[in-house]
Amino acid sequence: MGLVMNIELKHIHKRFGAVHANNDINLTFATGRIVGILGENGAGKSTLMKILSGFQSMDSGEIWLDGKPVSYNGPQAAIAHGIGMLQQDPLDVGAFTVLENFIYGQPGNLSPKRKVAQQQLEKLSQRFGFELDPDMPVSQLSIGQRQQLEIVRLLALGVRTLILDEPTTGISTEQKTLLFDALRELAAKDSMTVLLVSHKLEDVIALCHEVAVLRAGRIVGSMDMPATTTELVTLMFGQELAAQPRQPINANSDDAVLALHKVQLRNKRMKIDNISLRVRAGEIIGLAGLDGSGQEMLLRACVGLEKCSRGQIDIAGRDMTGKSYREFLQTGVAFGAAGRLEEGLVAGLTLTEHIALVTSHQSFIDWNSARQHTEDQIKHYNVRGRPESRIETLSGGNQQRVLMALMPQEPVLMALEQPTRGLDVDSARWIWQQLIERRKGGTAIIFSSPDLDELVTYSDRIIVFCGGWVQEVADMENLTLDELGRMIGGEGVIQ
Ligand SMILES: Nc1ncnc2c1ncn2[C@@H]1O[C@H](COP(=O)(O)OP(=O)(O)OP(=O)(O)O)[C@@H](O)[C@H]1O
Ligand SMILES: [Mg+2]
Repeated sequence: MGLVMNIELKHIHKRFGAVHANNDINLTFATGRIVGILGENGAGKSTLMKILSGFQSMDSGEIWLDGKPVSYNGPQAAIAHGIGMLQQDPLDVGAFTVLENFIYGQPGNLSPKRKVAQQQLEKLSQRFGFELDPDMPVSQLSIGQRQQLEIVRLLALGVRTLILDEPTTGISTEQKTLLFDALRELAAKDSMTVLLVSHKLEDVIALCHEVAVLRAGRIVGSMDMPATTTELVTLMFGQELAAQPRQPINANSDDAVLALHKVQLRNKRMKIDNISLRVRAGEIIGLAGLDGSGQEMLLRACVGLEKCSRGQIDIAGRDMTGKSYREFLQTGVAFGAAGRLEEGLVAGLTLTEHIALVTSHQSFIDWNSARQHTEDQIKHYNVRGRPESRIETLSGGNQQRVLMALMPQEPVLMALEQPTRGLDVDSARWIWQQLIERRKGGTAIIFSSPDLDELVTYSDRIIVFCGGWVQEVADMENLTLDELGRMIGGEGVIQ
């Protein structure tokens, strides 16, 4: 049956200079299984998946499909062998429409196929409940819709194995439900193999039949599900991680570091009125809500990247309404964007060049001291990379660490979009230790997160965004995850 697909990886090696990213990987994936690929940041997960899907070459090793060795030299060839992958950071396909993108890669001429392709697109979208308008430019799709498009495109090309690298980052809860239902159905009904790279252990628990764990380029364990989070963490890190208790507020004065007075924020899709908020030194404020409910807009308003259409915003007692990002920075605020390689980091530049960009204030750059400083920061933030590494060669989690390293040491206010996005459990805790250190020095922190657990664990106060409204959680002491989830979904909103 051409439909069955068993994958065997044999003795796969891949080095990047001194880094042995994949070190003798041996794995078997059976048809119809959903397999979680786990491991700390930089463990080699993306590298292995890119090798299997033809996006990267291996130094040595073999891939066997259904008992026969194969070799291929690019993603198109891998797709022809039935293996397709959704990238961790989706590539931009700019000017194409959904339909054009869907047809892309299909053999034959474009025009006569349009109609057939459109029907196929509609049928596949319908099957999984995806909402894809054939005529919409891909540039206007949300991350979740792009992902849906890529899935139906790969299915139309006949892939039998679907690889997803951190697929739930940046998509809404509804999209995640649709995605997981689709993956379960593809495995169960179509006997497809699904490989899922993820740091979100609750996703792995919800979806996978088995897991394989990488550490420093090697396979260090595998396990059949069901398993608990603790068991998975132990398998990944070789030990159970101690829970972090919530730290009491350390605000020692009543003065507001940040004050919003009846602020109105608006963009093309929504308007939020009457946001009033006072944040004191040392306070941690969490912003909860479904993706795109306005949290990011508020964070950006706090650092002058977004203008308030009404109301007033003060930083450390100074009226900053209408001022520029640069002027906000001068008052001692810092901003961390979620989109690593779209904002904040510059592909093509090395770590030293990034450090030099934020630390030097004149046109003259002292490269020796920038390099020394970069080495210190690499050590301090435990970044897997070298001063001369270009930023895009770092693993996703290590890029996030670099973003942290680029932040000023003692800002009065840090506004952070999803500060632990893409980080493994251990690294996420480590980042929070760093943040808690800074709050002890009086820095106030305002952050957004799709992770309810993170919000409840680290916030002194939580603001919930829902359907154009904001609401502060009244009783933080007794707040449960369920309750917060319901508020985000729109229950109990006082309008
Ligand atoms: N193109 C490249 N050039 C140089 N080094 C690379 C390149 N791609 C990956 N590496 C290095 O190989 C190692 C493994 O990276 P990989 O991206 O596979 O990790 P990962 O397990 O996916 O991590 P994360 O969870 O952070 O995404 C890292 O040390 C990374 O810096
Ligand atoms: Mg990765």
